[in-house]
Amino acid sequence: MASVLIDSIQKNYGVTSVLRGVSLSIADGEFLTLLGPSGCGKSTLLRILAGLEVQDAGSVTIGERVVDGLRPKRRDVAMVFQSYALYPHMTVASNIALPLRMRKLSAVRRLPLLGRLLPGTTQVAGEIDEEVTRTAKSLGIGHLLVRKPGQLSGGQRQRVAVGRAMVRNPAIFLMDEPLSNLDAKLRVQMRAEIKELHQGLGVTFVYVTHDQAEAMTLSDRVAVMIDGELLQVAPPQDIYADPDDRRVAEFIGSPKINMLDGVVRERGLIDVAGATLTIETDARPGAALTLGIRPEAFHLADHGGQGSLTGSVRMIEHMGSDLFVHLDLAGIDHPLIVRLLAERAPYITPGQTLHVGVRPDRVLLFARDGRRLRRDAESDWTSVTPFREVAR
Ligand SMILES: Nc1ncnc2c1ncn2[C@@H]1O[C@H](COP(=O)(O)OP(=O)(O)OP(=O)(O)O)[C@@H](O)[C@H]1O
Ligand SMILES: [Mg+2]
Repeated sequence: MASVLIDSIQKNYGVTSVLRGVSLSIADGEFLTLLGPSGCGKSTLLRILAGLEVQDAGSVTIGERVVDGLRPKRRDVAMVFQSYALYPHMTVASNIALPLRMRKLSAVRRLPLLGRLLPGTTQVAGEIDEEVTRTAKSLGIGHLLVRKPGQLSGGQRQRVAVGRAMVRNPAIFLMDEPLSNLDAKLRVQMRAEIKELHQGLGVTFVYVTHDQAEAMTLSDRVAVMIDGELLQVAPPQDIYADPDDRRVAEFIGSPKINMLDGVVRERGLIDVAGATLTIETDARPGAALTLGIRPEAFHLADHGGQGSLTGSVRMIEHMGSDLFVHLDLAGIDHPLIVRLLAERAPYITPGQTLHVGVRPDRVLLFARDGRRLRRDAESDWTSVTPFREVAR
């Protein structure tokens, strides 16, 4: 088991800066997920941790050791790739056994004929077989040991790849989108299995995905990466409910968070989309802010006016227990998405005028440059600097 310290990692490919000073401390036994859009640098960072890629600046410490310059084999990490990376000509058993054979048998002992003649080889080979069988059984692929990868389903191949990582008994598991080649149902099932694997082994996992559901369900903490920078590292519920940055708020959540431009009318009142909302802010009159409101933060209101928004229903998406209502608001070019419980909203039809209220404490305020503006819990409301800017 080991912790990981990533300190100011930079990586450029030619003139393209892929990682721009990434720092992150991962606790021993933690499940940390790197989450971000395609091309943001997740795999590059994981490959640097594994030693498959060399950073241009910064350093990586695993456990007590600075591992920069150490070859992948010597880092005590095991990596599982999206593509499984199995040897097609070898059986499942041989694929899983490979790291054990490399570690436990010398090059001479691995020779097919001569090796067996050397004393002790048979015993070690027997131990390897036992461990492979035990691991395969624990992953539910014990009956597939004599097959080749080409004769397996995607989920089975992924289990073989996980098995091959497990027998190495690494201090750290690195997983790069291990489930993205699987269909939706299998992905959910394997997600649960990965969570169990982590709980069972108790070792550190660094997991890469661009699937937010995976990140939210698996992780102790999520590190949101966009354009080669970590914007926020926090438990999943904080990433969702208390984002530091507009880009984090917009990347997490489906449907997307609503973003509305507003202007402070007077202390505690913000003009937005033709209405005035009462939001505890004493930002100066005239200050331009952006309000982030998640679809589920709205509720139906009887009338428009102070505290609620009024719009015309453009369309309704029925999701079973919920409805997503798209509302056109005066002067706003994109519809507001409002999530309502289906049983509470049976009569909504397109073209109808609808009033929706929002709880002030569910409104996230952002500066126009995207930084989150938080109420400073310490400040009293007579203060002229009501917001503490988030340190970046
Ligand atoms: N060997 C390379 N040479 C040049 N550019 C590269 C190389 N490897 C990656 N890149 C670029 O670096 C950026 C980050 O790539 P990376 O593979 O880390 O992204 P990612 O976040 O893993 O994306 P995805 O979710 O699509 O896998 C991309 O713009 C990519 O094109
Ligand atoms: Mg990648």
